[in-house]
Amino acid sequence: MRRGTSGTFIMRIFKRMRYGAMTSATPVRHIFTLMFLLAVLLAGSSAFAADIDGQKTYTAVCGRCHGNPTEGAQGPPLLPLSHTGEEIQDIVRLGTGEMKALATTSITDDELKAVVAYLSSLDKKK
Ligand code: HEC
Repeated sequence: MRRGTSGTFIMRIFKRMRYGAMTSATPVRHIFTLMFLLAVLLAGSSAFAADIDGQKTYTAVCGRCHGNPTEGAQGPPLLPLSHTGEEIQDIVRLGTGEMKALATTSITDDELKAVVAYLSSLDKKK
């Protein structure tokens, strides 16, 4: 199918609907179905990530070694941040010195991102 600008493309769909020639518009319906599914997927995944409480995850997973993030405990204090978010994720996944790597069974990727967001938000407040 040859398309002009998206404006004329949409006008053609309207014309087809007005004249009731929906069979020739079948590929268009597939596109709408795909767009709908994509929207549902995107909304679902972002809602899921936003549901994770970074502070709670920090306390449960990192806090037992790092304690209060500005004070540290067995592990060093993490605030103020001396690593980028990506570096923190690498450190957690690969481990560093005395800190063993944490697998996704200990902290999922989404939870780890939520922890990084939590630490960054505290870092910016200073
Ligand atoms: C089992 C204890 C333990 C857990 C759980 C743990 N850490 Fe660590 N972490 C450490 C120790 C100990 C070090 C210091 C490693 C070294 O330098 O030898 C460290 C170091 C780090 C560093 C590097 C600090 C620096 O100054 O370079 C980061 C970043 C870090 N941890 C983040 C995390 C995050 C985020 C979590 C939670 C997802 C976490 N850690 C969970 C013990 C732990």
